[in-house]
Amino acid sequence: MPVDVIVGAQWGDEGKGKVVDLLSEHADIVARYQGGANAGHTVCIGEKQFVLHLIPSGIFHEHITCVIGNGVVVDPTALMDEIAQLAEAGVNITGRLLISHNAHLIMPYHKQLDAIREQTPNRIGTTGRGIGPSYIDKFMRIGIRIVDLLDRDVLARKIKVNIAEKNQLLTKVYGKTQIDVDQIINEYQEFDQRIDEYVTDTALFLHGALKENKRIIAEGAQGALLDVDHGTYPFVTSSNPTSGGACTGLGIPPTAVRSVAGITKAYCTRVGNGPFPTELHDATGEKIRTVGNEFGATTGRPRRCGWFDAFALRYSAMVNGIENIAVTKLDVLDAFEEINVCTGYEFAGRRLKTFPTDLALLDRITPVYERFEGWNTPLSSMTSLDQLPSSARTYLEALAELTGTRLWLISVGPRRSQTIVVE
Ligand code: GDP
Ligand code: IMO
Ligand code: MG
Repeated sequence: MPVDVIVGAQWGDEGKGKVVDLLSEHADIVARYQGGANAGHTVCIGEKQFVLHLIPSGIFHEHITCVIGNGVVVDPTALMDEIAQLAEAGVNITGRLLISHNAHLIMPYHKQLDAIREQTPNRIGTTGRGIGPSYIDKFMRIGIRIVDLLDRDVLARKIKVNIAEKNQLLTKVYGKTQIDVDQIINEYQEFDQRIDEYVTDTALFLHGALKENKRIIAEGAQGALLDVDHGTYPFVTSSNPTSGGACTGLGIPPTAVRSVAGITKAYCTRVGNGPFPTELHDATGEKIRTVGNEFGATTGRPRRCGWFDAFALRYSAMVNGIENIAVTKLDVLDAFEEINVCTGYEFAGRRLKTFPTDLALLDRITPVYERFEGWNTPLSSMTSLDQLPSSARTYLEALAELTGTRLWLISVGPRRSQTIVVE
């Protein structure tokens, strides 16, 4: 019963899209289990580059069935746009996309509330995709689900109840104008016909596939340090990107999971606010951003850049159960004289035992660095471990050693071919 879970091991944008696309060659099903269109997973096929927000990154392989699980929050507008983009590019998804009837919907007022909250002093720096407000409604047990689209009366009733409450909030708390109920009902009732062919009980589908011994890749969005339970709360997303989220977000048991692999960049980035101990505010950080083209795939925002944080990654490996790591974007470090890796945090003259998720403490720690020699050689056309310069190999071995993981895959460019499989 093999489910292989692929998680972002840092703060997102580690290259999950590239790795999942690559692994899909030897899989049957790729399933997204949490998040929504806040994700931006880039897949390069030949000269073309695709950014997927909701549809799993296995979609470019014709033999793959893609599943959007119950744990995902689906923005039907974003989904329709994505389906249209794929059709335009000649990617045939007929019969290959399944959406859980239990997945919750993102409504226009979720995006509006997300934007309003982002204007307050406590802003998180969200993607503005309505993710937090949609998960709030899910856990308040007032959310509207995909299945509700299929019954016009139920949908209209639920939207009315929700909007009555949201209008109170918008007008009385935030001083905004009321939302037009009918417009939203009409807009969402239309999705019924367009979405119907994809909607099913995906948990049942996945259990059938497990019985047939199909190979399933569970594709995480965001990253472990953005996990609402295990990340740098409150500067996190509103779901569980960590591996446990794959079970609840797809309706599969933990016993179905065969492996957990973590995707990590050879350095660190973060978009949005929140602690980032190894962040570089100098020319070196700027150089990483420029060379790595570190601008958000969803919002276009510049990503904050810094050195690899092995201490944070060791924690991430612990909460996820990561055994193998894929180190991406190694080529971005091609032209650095020296490269630093954070091996631990110091507070009040003492080394911390584990990565703290307490914000007050995180803000006051001092990262401890180990210095590595750069390789000053372009790596992007190298296809095996022994072609890599010895200083690059030393660096990679140190990352694995310091994080207590095994090096499994190295990425030296965005294309499929620019990958070194270690084992
Ligand atoms: P995801 O959200 O984890 O799927 O990652 P994103 O797609 O948001 O960001 C990763 C970016 O790095 C994308 O633009 C990829 O095309 C690119 N990329 C992935 N792997 C590599 C690599 O090894 N080297 C370089 N230079 N770019 C890469
Ligand atoms: P992928 O899947 C990087 C960040 C936002 C913000 C925080 C909360 O492409 O790796 P949200 O909109 O989720 O409420 O924002 O989480 N964030 C991401 N950062 N990659 C992502 O997805 C992200 N999705 C959300 O920038 O800091
Ligand atoms: Mg991304």
